[in-house]
Amino acid sequence: MLKKVKANIALFIYYFILKNLPSTNSPYALIVVLRSWVCKSMFKKMGRHVNIQKGVYFGKGDKISIGDYSGIGENSILGQTDEIQIGNNVLTGPQLMIFTQNHEFKDRTKLIREQGGTNNPVTIEDDVWIGTDSIILSGVTLGKGTIVAAGSIVTKSTLPYSVIGGNPAKLIKKRFDDDLIKLLLDIDFSKIDEKKIHGLLPKLHMPLDGKILLEIKSELLSSSQDRT
Ligand SMILES: CC(C)(COP(=O)(O)OP(=O)(O)OC[C@H]1O[C@@H](n2cnc3c(N)ncnc32)[C@H](O)[C@@H]1OP(=O)(O)O)[C@@H](O)C(=O)NCCC(=O)NCCS
Repeated sequence: MLKKVKANIALFIYYFILKNLPSTNSPYALIVVLRSWVCKSMFKKMGRHVNIQKGVYFGKGDKISIGDYSGIGENSILGQTDEIQIGNNVLTGPQLMIFTQNHEFKDRTKLIREQGGTNNPVTIEDDVWIGTDSIILSGVTLGKGTIVAAGSIVTKSTLPYSVIGGNPAKLIKKRFDDDLIKLLLDIDFSKIDEKKIHGLLPKLHMPLDGKILLEIKSELLSSSQDRT
C-alpha cells in the first residue's frame, strides 16, 4: 500500500515537473540524479547512473527494468503493456519508441477494437546503441552489442554485435568476426573493475584481436573475482 502511494506521488512529480526539465549528458547533473531517483519509485528495477532525458513517457513505468549507466533519449515513448528490460550501458537516441502491444485483427466479423490484443516483452541487452527515431516492436530482443541505425523499425530479434537498419530492419553487417563475438559474449561488462582499467589502457588501444581480448578478459575476470 505504502509502495503504491509512493509510486503515485512519484508519477505526479515526474509528469508535472521533472519530465519538462532540460536534458543533459552529464550523469552527475542534478536534473539527471533527480529524474532517476524519482523514477526508481515507479520502475521495476532502476540501475545506477541512469539518464532519463527530457520528455520521456513510460506510463506508470512499473514493468520497466533498466540497468547501470543506461540512458533513454529525449521524447522517447516506452509503451509498457508487458515487461521492457533494458540492460547495462545502453544508449538510445531521441524519439525512440518501444511497443509491447499488438492488436488482434484476424476475425472478419469483429471490429479491430473488439478483438483484444497481445502483449509480449521487449528486451534490450547490454551495450546496445539505438539510433534516433527508431521503433522497437513487441517480442523483440536486441542482442548484446547491437547497433540500430537511425530511423529503423525493428520487427525481429537481432544477433549480438550486429548493425541493423531500415524498415523493416535488416542486418547491415556484423560488428566483429564470429570468434571475437564469441569471446565478447563471455565478458560481463558490468563486472569491470573501473580502477583496473587504467592499467589496461595500452592493451585497450591495440587493434582488437582474439589474443588481446583474452588477455583483457583474464584481467577483468580476476578483478571481478577479487570483488566477490
Ligand atoms: C548505422 C550507423 C551507425 C552507421 O554505421 P556505419 O558502420 O558507419 O555504416 P555506413 O555508413 O558505412 O553504412 C553501411 C550501410 O548501412 C546503410 N545505413 C546507414 N545508416 C542507415 C540507416 N539509418 N538506415 C538504413 N540504412 C543505413 C548505408 O546506406 C550503407 O548501406 P550500403 O552498404 O548499401 O551502402 C549510422 O548510419 C546511424 O544510423 N547512426 C545513428 C545516429 C543517431 O541516431 N544519432 C543520435 C544520437 S544517439
